[in-house]
Amino acid sequence: MSRIEVLLGRMTLSEKIGQLTMSAADQAVTGPVLAQGLAADVRSGAVGSVLNLYGSDRVRVMQRLAVEESRLHIPLFFGLDVIHGYRTLFPVPLAEVASFDVALWEQTAREAALEAAREGVDMTFAPMLDVSRDPRWGRTVEGPGEDPVVGCVLARAKVRGFQGAPGALGAAGRAGADLASPGAIAAVAKHFCAYGPVQAGREYASVDISERTVREVHLPPFAAAVDSGVAAVMPAFTDLAGLPMTANREMLQGWLRERLGFTGVIVSDYNAIGELMAHGVARDRSEAAALALLAGVDVDMMADAYRHGLPVALDRGLVRETQIDAAVLRVLALKERLGLFDDPYRRCQGPEPSTALTRRRLLARRAAAQSLVLLTHRGEVLPLRAGVRVALLGPLADASAEMRGCWTAAADEHGSVGVLEALQGALGPDAVAHAPGTGISGADTSGIAAALRACEDADVIVLCLGEAAAMSGEAASRAELQLPGCQRELALAVLARAAELGTPVVALLFSGRPLVVPWLFEQADAVLAAWFPGSEAGAGIADVLTGRLAPSGRLPISWPRSGGQIPIFHAERPSGRPFAANNHYTSRYLDVSNEPQFPFGHGLSYACLEHSNLRVTPTQCGEGDTLQVRVEVRNPGVRAARETLFLFTRDRLASIARPLLELKGWRQIELAGGAQATVELQLAVRELRFLGADLQPRHEAGEVELLVGASADRSRLLSTMVRLI
Ligand code: BGC
Repeated sequence: MSRIEVLLGRMTLSEKIGQLTMSAADQAVTGPVLAQGLAADVRSGAVGSVLNLYGSDRVRVMQRLAVEESRLHIPLFFGLDVIHGYRTLFPVPLAEVASFDVALWEQTAREAALEAAREGVDMTFAPMLDVSRDPRWGRTVEGPGEDPVVGCVLARAKVRGFQGAPGALGAAGRAGADLASPGAIAAVAKHFCAYGPVQAGREYASVDISERTVREVHLPPFAAAVDSGVAAVMPAFTDLAGLPMTANREMLQGWLRERLGFTGVIVSDYNAIGELMAHGVARDRSEAAALALLAGVDVDMMADAYRHGLPVALDRGLVRETQIDAAVLRVLALKERLGLFDDPYRRCQGPEPSTALTRRRLLARRAAAQSLVLLTHRGEVLPLRAGVRVALLGPLADASAEMRGCWTAAADEHGSVGVLEALQGALGPDAVAHAPGTGISGADTSGIAAALRACEDADVIVLCLGEAAAMSGEAASRAELQLPGCQRELALAVLARAAELGTPVVALLFSGRPLVVPWLFEQADAVLAAWFPGSEAGAGIADVLTGRLAPSGRLPISWPRSGGQIPIFHAERPSGRPFAANNHYTSRYLDVSNEPQFPFGHGLSYACLEHSNLRVTPTQCGEGDTLQVRVEVRNPGVRAARETLFLFTRDRLASIARPLLELKGWRQIELAGGAQATVELQLAVRELRFLGADLQPRHEAGEVELLVGASADRSRLLSTMVRLI
């Protein structure tokens, strides 16, 4: 018998249920209820893991209670939402995804893990892998954007980053082989699954989509996470066609455990087991507990449904003790993998050497710069010339706390660099005249006059507009994706004054999602999506504005021109009546174009690269083949640029209608001014399979179009055909 089996044999029922109970401390508040009497529960073995407690000293104190004062001395594990950093914050996930730099995705997770692990964190509730095609949904900011292939690549990179042993960066194979390493933490792939398509983008609302969409769009990132060795999975709060994920036996047991072969721990979302009653599928806590356990949920986060409900469920014959035992063994196995039985304080090493912090801040600065997306640019206003005088306006110009984004973990409120501070540093303190003009929200317009005055002596106006960080993330859906408060009024007044003065305007849009501001795109000389760039926000932005680095971010989500277009995404299926300008009875709006404001993949740089000569070998291929795709890229400008080339396919004739574009992968390349290069992408023909009418993968003979280019704007993609045999 293994060590954990022996331990299981010695446990009382309440100690077993304790291992399945996760309680929250109050260092971070991430849900509606808080635990009382945590220390007493740890001593009595009524709690097996803790969330929202961090800091090596605090964790040590709590861990000591478990290993010295509880009867069986079983260590706790400590979980926290280390989503885009711990103390050092990297850009919010959607922003970092915009870098399309897979090595960066992995590196930031690794650095976040190293930083958090020193302070007692064993598990992060990340990566968030929910594909979102509806930016009204606030949690769009936490995930991969609209495309499942991006979700898959992100899943692998993040799991490797969080769970990989130091020095294992980029290593092939399953991550977390050495999860016991003091610098590794357990990743939790969440929220399984199909949380993104909540009805009308409203948080926690019901989900009712086809099984095909679940399998084609929402499951693949989780399959990739499982394949990468993710330690844990968290079911979504939401239901799928009436069955809440927390009680969804078919999805958790059927898909996750049986089909994907997941052997790790399933941790419920915050209070989600209790919420099965509000969903209307459980009469009381014992029914809720039984439903969740039988579905495969091992750990009850903050509902206390297992603690109070499972003993009753056992008495009523709703569950068997062997089912509880199986869950306990999975939890103990995770504690063993994390090395906690050998050294329960292994992740409490305390402060790191300052060199680690410097390295991390530099990475955060690069990540911030790489996540910016230059949406529009006219008249060469950027990069800013040396000696330029700037009027820095808008409520987000000097808002370092907002720069942190939606999940701030242990980052302190004053630890982020805002735009004002960074631009003053880069251009000189006297070169920047600052006036906020308005608040982020609210109706006070009294500061607009001062903002207009600040424009008088400026060579360029930089307008920092957008949402507060808390306007996206959990419980932050918005029906209208406009600028909040009276920022539009400020912006229009500034744009009008700038037009009179002949002064160019650069707008920085801070947000966790695309904002619907077509008027701004028309009138400003340049607009950058800045998202929430993290601890080094201002520095990364200044690097790009001054041309120290070229903008290279690309949109991981289509940017709507009207809220009424949502959901809008590149992988739409064809219509039987595709839009035709001269035909009324075609798929269209009467009042708005079908096209997004900016397509998936859009993003400009300071050079405009040219692509040519797309070719593929072989042009006739079977299921086992791999296609080599090559394209020439030239930088005709003088400035260096980082280019992202996306590879899409279009299967025009198949037994099931295929999307108008399907992303298959991408490659990035750095090109100096005047340089040219051949970019190579590979595509396994197996990736061209799709789910047939029976929802089983199939390879169908016929022609498939391959398309390569800088975005999903079809008119600018190069294309060639291959024949599948
Ligand atoms: C969120 C999760 C998070 C958990 C713990 C929940 O409300 O949905 O994403 O990991 O809280 O903080």
